[in-house]
Amino acid sequence: MRVLIVGGGGREHALAWKLTQDQPSIEIIAAPGNPGLATLGRCVAMSADDILGIVALAMQEKPNLVVIGPEAPLAAGLADALRTVGIPVFGPSRGAARIESSKAFAKSLMREAGVPTARAIRCIDAPAAKRAARDFGAPVVIKASGLAAGKGVIVCSTIAEADAAIDSMLRDDTFGAAGREVLVEEFMEGEELSLFAITDGTTVLPMLAAQDHKRLLDGDMGPNTGGMGAYAPVSLSSDALVADAVERVFLPTLDALRAAGAPFSGLLYAGLMLTAQGPKVVEFNCRFGDPETEAILPLLESSLLEPLLAVANGSGLAGQALKWSSNHAVTTVVATAGYPDSPRKGSRIELPPREPNVHVFHAGTAFNAAGELVTAGGRVFAVTAIAPSLAEAQRESARAAGAIDFEGKQLRRDIGWRELERSAGATRD
Ligand code: AMP
Ligand code: GLY
Repeated sequence: MRVLIVGGGGREHALAWKLTQDQPSIEIIAAPGNPGLATLGRCVAMSADDILGIVALAMQEKPNLVVIGPEAPLAAGLADALRTVGIPVFGPSRGAARIESSKAFAKSLMREAGVPTARAIRCIDAPAAKRAARDFGAPVVIKASGLAAGKGVIVCSTIAEADAAIDSMLRDDTFGAAGREVLVEEFMEGEELSLFAITDGTTVLPMLAAQDHKRLLDGDMGPNTGGMGAYAPVSLSSDALVADAVERVFLPTLDALRAAGAPFSGLLYAGLMLTAQGPKVVEFNCRFGDPETEAILPLLESSLLEPLLAVANGSGLAGQALKWSSNHAVTTVVATAGYPDSPRKGSRIELPPREPNVHVFHAGTAFNAAGELVTAGGRVFAVTAIAPSLAEAQRESARAAGAIDFEGKQLRRDIGWRELERSAGATRD
């Protein structure tokens, strides 16, 4: 069994790790991969965005399965290009990836399908967007419709902030083409959940819900980042809530995509807000989330390879089920100095010895010319600890992440704090 993984972050390392657990004889090829992935297989120095290069690589290596990690190659049509040359691929077509790559498309699809989500108005000129912001009133959310590397959403607490966000997108072109169409969106209040489902387009296998931590600092303070940690499971995500999300979010969305001529297969990620009126969709992503994947996969006791292959080769998911450990996982991201504004690259890293129940996934590392492990991206590692309680998993994850040494490293030590507060509250009640 040969699997090509496209991407080179913590998510891809975790995917490759799990597939290797499922089938130890598996041959992993990663493009571009990273030094962590290199311990599991062969890395090919090729950008995940190099569509022609990846297709040529796949034609040469003839993998049984290609798993595409990031959204950009999916939005650029990599899955379509691979299918055209007969290579089994886990990941949606370019058309179906619009559920993430165009927030305006996703919003109108949800509206037509009756999927619960915030009200929004699509605008392409600043005066109309400013009028819409005033109609909603502050707080209000301004979103670039296109892919903006996680930076295109601005939650504005005043109309002046909304005006500035609108001007930055529609007048000053700060986000380029991604921000030439914006959504002015009603503000929602509640806890957020990341709920992933593996799907062949009709059958949905929901995974364990996780909660991401986007702010840089403890207590959810500081600037927004790509994600400083995640934990799973989340007690808010009851069986009833997941069943409700399948019925009212995933299935109608998949039906609507099929009806729009863009059937979706792959991983559909629903970012949900648990509002007083029930769960509403904040956003969809067309791929595994990062860092949630690094928290979720170590808790998956059944095979990941089987459902991914079933989706990729078209045999479908009917009759398949996922089995989860009863343990808790906490993933602490270790970020480089200056992250998120100006991440410092090239700092030498000292890694402590491996430990049981701790997974150190490489997210932004590289070898320098001298063969030393150095920082190469904003988020450098995702360190997952598995334990029977959330408190212990948090402690162990923070401790193990703290034991990684490089200059100016940044990490949070409170991943999962909302859940711990909830359980403390429940004990008090
Ligand atoms: P997105 O990239 O769409 O997930 O948005 C990034 C973050 O912005 C989300 O995780 C939420 O915390 C926040 N956000 C997005 N839309 C809304 C909304 N309508 N109301 C409140 N917060 C939002
Ligand atoms: N954890 C957020 C994302 O993957 O988009």
